[in-house]
Amino acid sequence: MHWSLVAFCTGVGLASAENGLNGWLRYASLPDNLRHRSASVPPMIVALNTTETSPVYTAGKELQAGIKGILGRSVDISHDFPSSHNSESPCILVGTAAAYNAKYGSANLTSFTTDGFWLSVKGNNVLILGQNERGALYGAFEYLSMVAQGNFSDVNLLSNPDAPVRWVNQWDNLDGSIERGYAGPSIFFSNGAAVDDLTRVSQYARLLSSIRINAVIVNNVNANASFLTPANINGLGRIADAMRPYGVRLGISLNFASPQTLGGMNTFDPLDPTVDAWWDNKTDLLYQRIPDMAGYLVKANSEGQPGPLTYNRTLADGANMFARALKRHGNRDGNGGIVMFRAFVYNNHINETDWKADRANAAVDFFKHLDGQFEDNVVVQIKYGPIDFQVREPTSPLFANLFNTSTAIELQITQEYLGQQAHVVYLPPLWKTVLDFDLRVDSKPSLVRDIVSGQRFSRGLGGYAGVVNVGTNTTWLGSHMAMSNLYAYGRLAWDPALDPQKMLEEWTRLTFGFDRSVMDAVTKISMASWPAYENYTGNLGIQTLNDPLTHFGPNPAAQDNNGWGQWTRADRQGIGMDRTVSNGTGFAGQYPPEVAKVYENIDSTPDDLLLWFHHVNYTYHLRGSGETVIQHFYNAHYAGAETAQTFATQWESLRGKMDDERFNDILFKLKFQAGHSIVWRDAITGFYHNLSGIPDSTGRVGHHPWRMEAESMMLQGYRLVSVDPPETASNGTAIVTTSNSTAGSAVAKLPDDFKSGQYDIAIGYFDVIGGRAHYGAFINDEPLEEWIGDLEDKLGHAFSKKLDGSSATRITIPGIKLEKGDVLKIVGAPDGIEQAPLDYIALIPANANMVD
Ligand SMILES: *[C@@H]1O[C@H](CO)[C@@H](O)[C@H](O)[C@H]1NC(C)=O
Ligand SMILES: *[C@@H]1O[C@H](CO)[C@@H](O)[C@H](O)[C@H]1NC(C)=O
Ligand SMILES: *[C@@H]1O[C@H](CO)[C@@H](O)[C@H](O)[C@H]1NC(C)=O
Ligand SMILES: *[C@@H]1O[C@H](CO)[C@@H](O)[C@H](O)[C@H]1NC(C)=O
Ligand SMILES: *[C@@H]1O[C@H](CO)[C@@H](O)[C@H](O)[C@H]1NC(C)=O
Ligand SMILES: *[C@@H]1O[C@H](CO)[C@@H](O)[C@H](O)[C@H]1NC(C)=O
Ligand SMILES: *[C@@H]1O[C@H](CO)[C@@H](O)[C@H](O)[C@H]1NC(C)=O
Ligand SMILES: *[C@@H]1O[C@H](CO)[C@@H](O)[C@H](O)[C@H]1NC(C)=O
Ligand SMILES: *[C@@H]1O[C@H](CO)[C@@H](O)[C@H](O)[C@H]1NC(C)=O
Ligand SMILES: *[C@@H]1O[C@H](CO)[C@@H](O)[C@H](O)[C@H]1NC(C)=O
Ligand SMILES: *[C@@H]1O[C@H](CO)[C@@H](O)[C@H](O)[C@H]1NC(C)=O
Ligand SMILES: *[C@@H]1O[C@H](CO)[C@@H](O)[C@H](O)[C@H]1NC(C)=O
Repeated sequence: MHWSLVAFCTGVGLASAENGLNGWLRYASLPDNLRHRSASVPPMIVALNTTETSPVYTAGKELQAGIKGILGRSVDISHDFPSSHNSESPCILVGTAAAYNAKYGSANLTSFTTDGFWLSVKGNNVLILGQNERGALYGAFEYLSMVAQGNFSDVNLLSNPDAPVRWVNQWDNLDGSIERGYAGPSIFFSNGAAVDDLTRVSQYARLLSSIRINAVIVNNVNANASFLTPANINGLGRIADAMRPYGVRLGISLNFASPQTLGGMNTFDPLDPTVDAWWDNKTDLLYQRIPDMAGYLVKANSEGQPGPLTYNRTLADGANMFARALKRHGNRDGNGGIVMFRAFVYNNHINETDWKADRANAAVDFFKHLDGQFEDNVVVQIKYGPIDFQVREPTSPLFANLFNTSTAIELQITQEYLGQQAHVVYLPPLWKTVLDFDLRVDSKPSLVRDIVSGQRFSRGLGGYAGVVNVGTNTTWLGSHMAMSNLYAYGRLAWDPALDPQKMLEEWTRLTFGFDRSVMDAVTKISMASWPAYENYTGNLGIQTLNDPLTHFGPNPAAQDNNGWGQWTRADRQGIGMDRTVSNGTGFAGQYPPEVAKVYENIDSTPDDLLLWFHHVNYTYHLRGSGETVIQHFYNAHYAGAETAQTFATQWESLRGKMDDERFNDILFKLKFQAGHSIVWRDAITGFYHNLSGIPDSTGRVGHHPWRMEAESMMLQGYRLVSVDPPETASNGTAIVTTSNSTAGSAVAKLPDDFKSGQYDIAIGYFDVIGGRAHYGAFINDEPLEEWIGDLEDKLGHAFSKKLDGSSATRITIPGIKLEKGDVLKIVGAPDGIEQAPLDYIALIPANANMVD
């Protein structure tokens, strides 16, 4: 009876759709072949706290739910101390080490640091002790992760965090929108206030707590002063209440000008005592409602935000004002309020005619001379690279210029420049290039991860800030696959020495189960994804080359001649920023001498950062492959797009090995990525081909033997439009319907030398915001395929209102038999402002060695 019940539940588990809401905490039923040692899981949970808001209490409930889900067993929870804790009365005992010691007096408290835990599994006795309540919950999640992966080994694990600050940032606005969020509106706010139903906030805190994140900054760094009204302070208090049972604290972003814009004062000068008093007052009110508030995040004098420089005060003066206000509320449990002060300060009106102007210099220029002037509860929050979350950047040199100031590294989980969750890009390998980088301060080992943890320069604070931007979509990030980035972010913040592939495998088992082929495909796709993305976007350190507004599709020309300073200095002859000291912007000299020397010299600069540090001719030969820069561009873009084509194919082989809901959702996105990688490839290679005039030695670039351009088809109700930037359309031109309400048709004649056979038919078109055009493809008037320009629904967010590299896309209809003389036709019906835009049809022969 019992047996058949389990089998029945297993069956249901496989078939039932999964929407992603539980992330890696699904507690899916463990397959029979992995259960043989599960009898050792104790039949009883003892959680040493009776307060429902205590993380220890939560740990008890979580253990109960986990064991129920994974093993199908109901286990009772007690909150009383057992008379003894030994194998005669086996149980899972979870609590703080202090509570345990008060009764049994045997845990070694000095071996813990804040938030640390000890997990001991000995036969059928499990002991989980936290340095604090949060640590106890972390230990419970660690045990559940073991059980969920079928690991019933004895363990004796003492685990302490590498760094105290393990925060996430949300760029949510009061109106419910999220800056650079790709998964629907905010889970925290809507219509100018905190939402009423905070269920999703608790669920988010649960996920974060399981990866040992201890605080969330809940609102956008481009902050609105209205967060500090009494009603909104109360709303923030409710959010903090919803997260507290998971040991996740709340912090907020502040707008520096609030005393003026909200307080009605005539100044926000940080050295004005009335301004100080205003902030003290607001801070008092916040602590009244949120006694365990984590602190503040401040973006000042950056991208138009107000700050202390307005009053000729230093950035340290600004940060310290908040630091003092927070300090008035003491240092609870080693967890006093912290000011995270962003180092993302730069002049966004610089002029490219000045060869020495360089935005990359800004952080060190602004902060180096302030070292030692910050209060000890200020942490300078530094993006991993000197520009802005690009596909590859050198490590920010600011990490090597602050010795008497605590620092944190800012990483992005939301893929702002890296495909916006519509492309799979597994980020930990990128993060590791920075965390493991040795800055050689004073010619001594100085890994970035040891600097931000506080170890290298003996700082009491420091750590990690990850911009996540989850939304109300049940997938949290808008894509199931993107959740591996959030998972790994938390694990790395706790232990930055972890291996990216190992973390991925753990996540995959917890997310998709134990099928070997699923593990292989997820691993292969994910581990190839960042190198592939770098290949088909911007390589050799030239940055991602995204459109400067959408940050999504390609727009290489727009990188230059703007005040933002994300430049490439590409012209007919050469490309790259000369950041040397000898002849360039001097940026290389911001590193300690050993590192500076490597970058100053073109012969020792690694190829993947060549164009970051040096301006070279397109014909410059790379050290590694010996290829010229331009030929490498061509080769890498073709290789990257080729790799991306394999992702969807690999995924197809997993049909039936997981629920259809997740399988189909991921497949759809991988197919989109395959098409968009070709948009990228063609745009970037076409642009530099046109600019340099240097042909591709293998003849691929600008040569599309199997494409039929829409502008060469027989058109009815369609007209030609030129696309801007031109390289984002095949041959620079697309077609749109002449009317906003009547369908148009485009008839393609097969080339004269066409050979009958099996073909993949790829159709390049544009999908803009503001309409859902309908397309039909026909062969000899027989319907072949229908689709709708509804990526804004299917990808969960929209990219562009115009025809460009962000709206360009393509679909492929595989394996179609075509005969010489067949007639292909596309009928496009406009909708809204979307005039069924069409670019080309490509007929790719079976067994072609290239995707055209
Ligand atoms: C139980 O939890 C509450 C709320 O977190 C806390 O204030 C209290 O100190 C805890 N008690 C023990 C014994 O740890
Ligand atoms: C307790 O742990 C500390 C730090 O790990 C260690 O130095 C000490 O020897 C331990 N004490 C006992 C009694 O085990
Ligand atoms: C089981 O889990 C523990 C604790 O996380 C770990 O140290 C150990 O390597 C795991 N064993 C296996 C076989 O995965
Ligand atoms: C502080 O806030 C209280 C309550 O809102 C208000 O009555 C008082 O005037 C404020 N004081 C200052 C200095 O802003
Ligand atoms: C700003 O401060 C600096 C140094 O404190 C001083 O030299 C300079 O004159 C000030 N500028 C203005 C405009 O007040
Ligand atoms: C940059 O400087 C040049 C030369 O002084 C000037 O012609 C150009 O207008 C400036 N560009 C911008 C964007 O200010
Ligand atoms: C989540 O986003 C997907 C697109 O990625 C969309 O199809 C789905 O409707 C969204 N679901 C919710 C509940 O927002
Ligand atoms: C040195 O800088 C100038 C611009 O000031 C540039 O034109 C030239 O190419 C650079 N020389 C070298 C060797 O990079
Ligand atoms: C770059 O190309 C130009 C034009 O062909 C040439 O004059 C110059 O010497 C080249 N520079 C280098 C460093 O090869
Ligand atoms: C990236 O491009 C390089 C250069 O063409 C190639 O060697 C490498 O295999 C490519 N990697 C991926 C994952 O596409
Ligand atoms: C490409 O565009 C040009 C005009 O810019 C046009 O003359 C030519 O026919 C187009 N090529 C094809 C293959 O449609
Ligand atoms: C037709 O669509 C275009 C853009 O695609 C838009 O500019 C125009 O206003 C629309 N016209 C009407 C009458 O809606």
